[in-house]
Amino acid sequence: YLRQLPYQCVVKTDGLTPDGDGSVVCDSTADAEAAVDRFAEEFGDTLALIVEERLTGQEISVFALLDGEHAMLFPTALDYKRTLEGDAGKNCDGMGSVAPHPNDSPELRDELRAALIDPLVRGLRAEGLDFTGFVYVGAILTPRGPVAIEINARFGDSEAEVVLPGVSSDFTLLCEAVLAGELPDHELVTDGLDRCSVALVQGCLDPASPEAAVGWPFGPFAVDQPVTGLDRPAADDVSVFCANVRRDATGTPRTAGGRVLHVVGTGATPALARDRAYDRIGSISFPGMRYRTDIGAAPAATTVTYAEAAGVTAGTVPTRK
Ligand code: GLY
Repeated sequence: YLRQLPYQCVVKTDGLTPDGDGSVVCDSTADAEAAVDRFAEEFGDTLALIVEERLTGQEISVFALLDGEHAMLFPTALDYKRTLEGDAGKNCDGMGSVAPHPNDSPELRDELRAALIDPLVRGLRAEGLDFTGFVYVGAILTPRGPVAIEINARFGDSEAEVVLPGVSSDFTLLCEAVLAGELPDHELVTDGLDRCSVALVQGCLDPASPEAAVGWPFGPFAVDQPVTGLDRPAADDVSVFCANVRRDATGTPRTAGGRVLHVVGTGATPALARDRAYDRIGSISFPGMRYRTDIGAAPAATTVTYAEAAGVTAGTVPTRK
């Protein structure tokens, strides 16, 4: 089956693998065969595989609140899932995000609704599922339109940190409208500002030592490291969200997980939001602190390519005007 595919593919197992989420993005048939062999070795008789076309393009996180019949779109976001600068390294829970998405426009929102959200609502109803609440569709902006990669019945993290602070609608009223099936009677009011969130994660404490824990998300990581710089007064244009922090008996904040903090800058432009986040990070530290330095750094345009056999030619996704 792999050998006759007219396009590059992604091989996924039904389950998580110790080194990632169980999917291998393949450059070649040989890569795909190697992935199948490796999964077969790991899962034996319980092996279940999905093989799908590999999509290339800019990722977008799409959020909608559903009342069972109607959907209210929330602002879009761009999540930086790769561990290292330049979108290199393994996929992880996310190293930061920006909202709105750099490609955001009224036209794109219409397209996202028509291509992803409306069919999802229709599909849920067609299957007799009475779903209310948030859905988070992870999609790729391809030359043939947005294509869904994943659908989650929850919000995204760290997208929540850049989307929800900009919402000024009364959230309780929205929840009541969901329960009453009256979402169309309400409008989502947002402040229209840009936000940039950078995750501060627990890296290796001593990169020179072969014995040191390698750090998140590469493998084992240290915890219990003292965090300094959290005691600044809150400001309108920058927030610090604790993801994995606890206070010890003396009240000192200490690291307690891989993603430790999310630092969010807010501004009238993406550049201002980004500068404010990184400026605040300069005053925070803990041993082994690691973060990506290029969250929100604007790519001029993302070039996307498709296997020609898939019937789509190379194209460019324009950035937000
Ligand atoms: N930010 C990715 C997720 O929440 O799954």
